Amino acid sequence: MRLFVALALPDHVAAGLLLLQGGVPGARWSQREQLHLTLRFIGEVDGRDAAAIDDALAAIRAPRFMLELKGMGEFGGKNPRALWAGVRDDAPVQHLQRKVESALQRIGLPAEERKFAPHVTLARLRAAPRDRVISFLVTHALYASPPFNVNSFILYSSQTTPNGSIYRPERAYALE
Ligand code: 2AM
Repeated sequence: MRLFVALALPDHVAAGLLLLQGGVPGARWSQREQLHLTLRFIGEVDGRDAAAIDDALAAIRAPRFMLELKGMGEFGGKNPRALWAGVRDDAPVQHLQRKVESALQRIGLPAEERKFAPHVTLARLRAAPRDRVISFLVTHALYASPPFNVNSFILYSSQTTPNGSIYRPERAYALE
């Protein structure tokens, strides 16, 4: 089972993002069910590890917070491979991410080596012309979502299919 920990987006925020999608050849746009903000990618685990992960996440105490998506970016530079929306004031999400990270390390998962850069992936790109990517970013540079409440975080499973990944919320953990 392939797992990751993420924040879900409310429908109105997801709908706003879906409206922006388009105009980049070679983009595979995220569907509604795929939009999320990853806190921690876990990867393949067996049932026993999944149970330990569930216990560790359930023990996390962290405050609720408000989140606002803001701005757009890409990963990959010369050969862009993903388009994403960023967040404004990432302090509370960084705080929660650190709690998740340390809870998972305490039960023996290896430390995440990548620096956490909160983002919502809007599209994966394959041979997308760089000028079209840039013009997408310029067009949506002023994007900002309405602020929304984050009251929980979620353990998702991910199933890879030829048509993309299917993400399924397995468990939600309430924030205080
Ligand atoms: P991404 O959207 O930036 O690609 C499920 O795969 C989620 O975990 C995705 O949101 C993905 O981020 C994230 N993720 C982080 N590290 C990953 C890795 N090594 N392999 C696959 N997905 C990863």
